[in-house]
Amino acid sequence: MKPAIDIQGLSVAFPSRTGTVHALQDLTLSVAPGTVFGFLGPNGAGKTTTIQVLLGFQEASAGTASLFGHATTHTIAREKIGYLSENPDSYNFLTGRELLTFAGRLFSLPSSEIKKRTAELLSETGLTEAADRRIATYSRGMRQRICMAQALINDPELLILDEPTGGLDPLGRRDIRRMIAARKEAGKTIFFSSHELSEVELACDRIAILSKGRLIAEGPVSSLVPPGESLERYFINTVSA
Ligand SMILES: Nc1ncnc2c1ncn2[C@@H]1O[C@H](COP(=O)(O)OP(=O)(O)OP(=O)(O)O)[C@@H](O)[C@H]1O
Ligand SMILES: [Mg+2]
Repeated sequence: MKPAIDIQGLSVAFPSRTGTVHALQDLTLSVAPGTVFGFLGPNGAGKTTTIQVLLGFQEASAGTASLFGHATTHTIAREKIGYLSENPDSYNFLTGRELLTFAGRLFSLPSSEIKKRTAELLSETGLTEAADRRIATYSRGMRQRICMAQALINDPELLILDEPTGGLDPLGRRDIRRMIAARKEAGKTIFFSSHELSEVELACDRIAILSKGRLIAEGPVSSLVPPGESLERYFINTVSA
């Protein structure tokens, strides 16, 4: 079976006033289907940049990336993907229900299926009561939730989430954890960046740690983190080494 994500020798450089920023340097990483994969690293490590390449938003300076065997530069690679951005923003003039309906149409889902999935996802994200209000009136956490629901409307094979629990209250974090667990149960692949290491420890099969654009650790949490140590302690030690 082809890897859900396959990244080979990926580098991304941005020109800047003070010289070139090497956001990503020679990253090689593979994620098997059915894995919940935590993508970690300090601020500015290159996580969002990697995700942007996976979604075809950002061009690589070197190397390649593919999703289920399709180069990320081809639209077909994105057909089976759900994506939640680091700064979720949506059409504020739509209601939550309208947004999900609109997203369902983009994937050419039949109306009956859109209606069913919309109701399910509104319930799963705790937004049923707010469903017919404009998104403009939503709180930050509610926006995050509706964007998560949007990412799931096409029942994606691969879910790419850039800090899905950022800005959420403990209940919201638990809901996200449940949503991830339910998709894993259904055999889907989940790749997400996070700074909430206690969440990552609970949710992930494997993790990768980036630092200054380079991969510094990768593997199952249980084999990386010594017994009796927390992922947070391991992360701090690894990143500061
Ligand atoms: N468009 C851009 N132009 C110039 N530099 C950029 C651009 N986008 C990102 N960078 C730089 O690339 C590096 C990696 O940024 P990136 O957003 O990928 O980090 P991150 O790991 O997602 O961090 P965070 O945890 O803060 O979200 C940073 O040094 C950032 O300043
Ligand atoms: Mg980021």
